[in-house]
Amino acid sequence: MRGWQVHSYGGIEELQLAENAKIPTISNANEVLVKVQTAGVNPIDVAMLRGYGAPILKLARNATTDIEFPLTFGREFTGVVVQKGMGVSDRLKTGQTVWGVVPLQKQGSHAEYVVVSESTVTELPQELNSVEGSAVLYAESSLRDKRVLILGASGSVGSLAAQILKAEHAIVIGSCSSDAMPMVQTLGVDHIIDYTDESSSNAFSQCGPYDLILDCAGQGQDGALKYGWQFKEFVTFSAPLLRNVDEHGLIFGMAKNVADLATANIKTLSTKQACVKWAYFVPSLRGIEYLKCLVERKKLLPKIDSVYGFDEAPEAYKKVKEGHLRGKVVIDFHK
Ligand SMILES: NC(=O)c1ccc[n+]([C@@H]2O[C@H](COP(=O)([O-])OP(=O)(O)OC[C@H]3O[C@@H](n4cnc5c(N)ncnc54)[C@H](OP(=O)(O)O)[C@@H]3O)[C@@H](O)[C@H]2O)c1
Repeated sequence: MRGWQVHSYGGIEELQLAENAKIPTISNANEVLVKVQTAGVNPIDVAMLRGYGAPILKLARNATTDIEFPLTFGREFTGVVVQKGMGVSDRLKTGQTVWGVVPLQKQGSHAEYVVVSESTVTELPQELNSVEGSAVLYAESSLRDKRVLILGASGSVGSLAAQILKAEHAIVIGSCSSDAMPMVQTLGVDHIIDYTDESSSNAFSQCGPYDLILDCAGQGQDGALKYGWQFKEFVTFSAPLLRNVDEHGLIFGMAKNVADLATANIKTLSTKQACVKWAYFVPSLRGIEYLKCLVERKKLLPKIDSVYGFDEAPEAYKKVKEGHLRGKVVIDFHK
């Protein structure tokens, strides 16, 4: 099969197109082999390319294999089931079009075939085409009337979070830069703040206090105290968990993680009676079914920033690396 692989960590030039890569094989009874049609490109792919999280992921991989390279990235996909393990339920059928996610420690979907556990795959909702189906699952969440500020409402995670929160009847305030405001408007948020406009800096405080601030803009836990906003919970998708282990090794890195999270919470609890949490992508069938339900009820429509052909994968990585995205970057294998 054809697949994008890396043989060492580094920049986008490390991505190599293998023309005769080995088709992955099912090794557990609960796995399926999927022929990929589209695959999302996420900031985590660009980060893993430069070695982000390598020590912990290598440990996780060694549970099944001791080979680190070549690695294939790509965490979400749509495709067709071509083979089922003996233990896979009738819920999934050969020939069925599905969408799914791949855990970080597994070989990814930027290749023509991927093997995944049945618990991370379901039938693709009919409401989505295959490009849209690769733009939802690598982001997920009684929120009625809760006041939520989304930092980075224009990005891949933020634009989905805004729609999920609105479906849950939350009051949503989204921040983005000025050129993204029309797109964020279409998400149905209640109020938009242009974070690049200095005159709107008061608006963040005026729209609060917030039940929840969701950091989808790479602010990290320091964002909780930086601006003096009032909130009960600050949840960041940019936690230092893997970076601490990369920089300090497994034991000291994990100790630093405990210390970092404790320090952030001591500060916010003492000044705001509020807490800071780290959010992580965890593949789950319940989460996928929940998102499928929102798509079927037309409460969730993925925003697509751009679509690249399979041979253009390095361009797609470059686009994600450059940032300022307006939704998801997707690789379409048939483009
Ligand atoms: N922990 C996990 O498992 C997990 C899972 C998915 C994503 N993530 C992380 O979550 C973050 C968002 O991911 P993503 O895929 O949504 O990235 P993305 O598509 O690049 O979106 C980030 C968005 O934030 C905007 N932005 C940047 N600085 C901002 C600021 N100060 N205030 C408001 N908006 C700002 C950017 O647009 P402009 O710069 O043009 O304003 C962009 O639209 C990334 O840091 C990613 O690594 C973590």
